[in-house]
Amino acid sequence: MPSRRIAILDPAATVVDIDSVVGLMTETFGERGDEKALVETWLTETHRCVRVAVNLDNDVVGLAVLTVPERFDAVAYGEPFGTDVAARVGAGPVALFNQLLVAPGARQQGVATALASAVGDWVVRRGVAAVLGISWHHGGDHHSGHLFLRAGFTALGQCRGFYQRFHDATGQQCTVCQPAPCDCTASLFGLSLP
Ligand SMILES: CC(C)(COP(=O)(O)OP(=O)(O)OC[C@H]1O[C@@H](n2cnc3c(N)ncnc32)[C@H](O)[C@@H]1OP(=O)(O)O)[C@@H](O)C(=O)NCCC(=O)NCCS
Repeated sequence: MPSRRIAILDPAATVVDIDSVVGLMTETFGERGDEKALVETWLTETHRCVRVAVNLDNDVVGLAVLTVPERFDAVAYGEPFGTDVAARVGAGPVALFNQLLVAPGARQQGVATALASAVGDWVVRRGVAAVLGISWHHGGDHHSGHLFLRAGFTALGQCRGFYQRFHDATGQQCTVCQPAPCDCTASLFGLSLP
C-alpha cells in the first residue's frame, strides 16, 4: 500500500503543476526540450492514460503514462529485444507503458506500485489484450523490473544500448551515462490479460 500521504491524480481532470511533472521527467531521463508540449498533448488524448502522484504538500512525486496505440507494430517493437511480441502476448489491442517514474525522495514507499495500479484500472476498462513495459537498467538497485514481475508480467528479452537511438533523434542525454553515449540495457516485459 502507498503511504496515506500520497494521492494519485488524473491531471486531465484535476489541476496539477505541469512544470513539476516536466521537471521530474527531465531530472530522471534527461532533457529533450519538448516535454511540456508532450505532456499537454497527452492530456488531450483519449487513448492515453496519465496519472500523477502528489504528496500532502501537492508536490508532484511520480508519473505514469500508458498508451493504447491505434496501430501497433509488434515486429518492430520486439525486434531490438529479439522477441516475437505477438507470439508472446497474442493478438488484440496492446497497452504500452511510456513513462513510470518516481522522485528519488519518494521511492521505496509504494508510489510506483500505486501508479501502476491506477493505470491498470484504466487498462481493464479499455479491454486491452496485453500490456507491455520496458524497464530501464540504470545501474541503481531499484529499477522497474521487480515491479513488472510482481504484477505478473513475464520477461520477454533484453537489449543493451536500447535508448541511444532515441537520444540520437532527440538530443536527450542519459542522466546516468552522460557525457558518453547511453549504454544502458532495457528489458521488455509483457502481460496477457484474460
Ligand atoms: C522504478 C521506480 C519507478 C520505482 O518507484 P518506487 O515508487 O520506488 O516503487 P515502489 O515503492 O512501488 O516499489 C519499489 C520497492 O519498494 C518496496 N516498497 C513498496 N512499498 C513500500 C513501503 N511502504 N515501504 C518500504 N518499501 C516499500 C517494494 O516492495 C519494492 O521493492 P523491490 O523493487 O526491491 O522489490 C523508481 O525507482 C524510478 O523512478 N526509477 C527511475 C526511473 C525508472 O527506472 N523508471 C522505470 C522504467 S523506465
